[in-house]
Amino acid sequence: PRSIFFSRHGESMYHLMGKIGGDSDLSPRGKRYALALPKLIKENLGDQPLTVWTSTMKRTIQTSEHLPYPKLQWKALDEIDAGCCDGKTYEEIEETSIRDQDKFNYRYRGGESYRDAINRLEPVIMELERQQNIMIVGHQAILRCMYAYFHNLPHEDLPYIRIPLHTVIKLTPKAYGCEEERYRFDI
Ligand code: F6P
Repeated sequence: PRSIFFSRHGESMYHLMGKIGGDSDLSPRGKRYALALPKLIKENLGDQPLTVWTSTMKRTIQTSEHLPYPKLQWKALDEIDAGCCDGKTYEEIEETSIRDQDKFNYRYRGGESYRDAINRLEPVIMELERQQNIMIVGHQAILRCMYAYFHNLPHEDLPYIRIPLHTVIKLTPKAYGCEEERYRFDI
């Protein structure tokens, strides 16, 4: 059976500042996560092949830097576009409570909703269905969409799925549904 690995990028400088969006570098802690990843994947896969997919953002590329496998960058895997709110903290964003009333459909001004993100992820999902072992090093909102697809979770729950930092989620698709394992790093 093939494996699909999901991981958020390591902690970024924007995380430390509480800001959303942007294209910041990994923090020192995020860099330690990037260094720790290859061992776990190797222990899991042995000599099986793997392809690593990242977004075009620095934080996912830096997180995958030490993984000794072929890599592919997808623009479609870039984090949800927060439009006018990009680079702000949740406290600075006045509409956070309005967004929470229908988080799946809420579209940031000049940006995207979760529904928009799912639409642009369609080609990625199509390709993922055709591939063997894949690791996606991605972003919170995007991995929520991917995870909900494989576990068939409803739209209203999707924007609240917990995809913690510094954790690898391994999915093994079976005839009905997916088996799941999680590996948490203490770094
Ligand atoms: O904070 C990290 C982040 O990836 C932001 O860039 C993004 O806007 C956010 O998470 C998505 O999570 P939520 O939809 O819960 O705000």
